[in-house]
Amino acid sequence: MEALLKVKKQIKIFVEEIGDKKSIELLTLLSEGKMLRSKLILKIAGISDESIKLCAIVEMIQSASLLHDDVIDEADTRRGKPSINALFDNKTSIMFGDILYSKAFTQLTTMDKNIAYTISNSVTLLSVGEMMDVDLTQTFNTSYDKYFEMIYKKTASLIEASAKAAALLSGKDEEAFAIYGKNLGLAFQMIDDILDITADSATLGKPAMLDFVEGKVTIPYLLLHERIEDKERLEKLYKKPLNEKETQWIKEQMIETKALEDSVKQAQTLGLEAIEAIKEYNNQDLENIMSDMINRSF
Ligand code: FPP
Ligand code: MG
Repeated sequence: MEALLKVKKQIKIFVEEIGDKKSIELLTLLSEGKMLRSKLILKIAGISDESIKLCAIVEMIQSASLLHDDVIDEADTRRGKPSINALFDNKTSIMFGDILYSKAFTQLTTMDKNIAYTISNSVTLLSVGEMMDVDLTQTFNTSYDKYFEMIYKKTASLIEASAKAAALLSGKDEEAFAIYGKNLGLAFQMIDDILDITADSATLGKPAMLDFVEGKVTIPYLLLHERIEDKERLEKLYKKPLNEKETQWIKEQMIETKALEDSVKQAQTLGLEAIEAIKEYNNQDLENIMSDMINRSF
């Protein structure tokens, strides 16, 4: 059986173990993701009962965080499908998130202590990152440090922990793989932030150009704000619904100031640093994960 299918089956088994019919139903309604973290774990640690279990745990934590995130962001869709909060309500989304999250932690206690510590610690960072993200949308943030700290915690920490845990599981250099995972995670979030501007809503599965309207000053906007002459005009559009003309203006300025181009370059640099960290392992698959992620269109 294909390895990712094994992971999905393991998640189903864990949820069935809970013995709650509604949880089983809700699991079938979750939209499927790219399973980036599982792909990473399997490429580092290979396929075994333990690595499949680790993947299932990480995917359950990831799903739980998105169930909560969709409530926080008041999102109606997730990957082009209705979110659980839209299909049911906020309460259901939060509670099912709690169920997935706590079941994942129960399973984590059956694993090696170092692995359990690595993963559980990253969930604390993840939660702090989400809180930072919410706080940073209150006013126009112009600090790169705050942006990078936030995306590290919110997105990169669980990817870093997944890579590190997979290395621990298979006796590889956990520090090198942690660096790979961290940089992959940072680049992943930056590409997400770029696609919000460059991709259309059909490809994204959510409205395009939403970040700025929602108050998120992501890397292309940080660079744009720093470089643009008419800062006031940009600041006036912050957290406002944008019409076609305004959207076009922002996109033009992004290109003119090279804010978009340089954001992509920064993500690529992080990608190269990630590959450099694990070069002695000569793992073409991990290099491909990185280049596919950087070159993706959704
Ligand atoms: C998506 O961000 C959200 C995250 C990557 C992390 C969310 C984390 C929490 C809610 C902490 C709670 C954790 C658990 C395990 C219960 P986004 O809104 O920028 O991306 P999106 O466009 O995919 O929604
Ligand atoms: Mg969200």
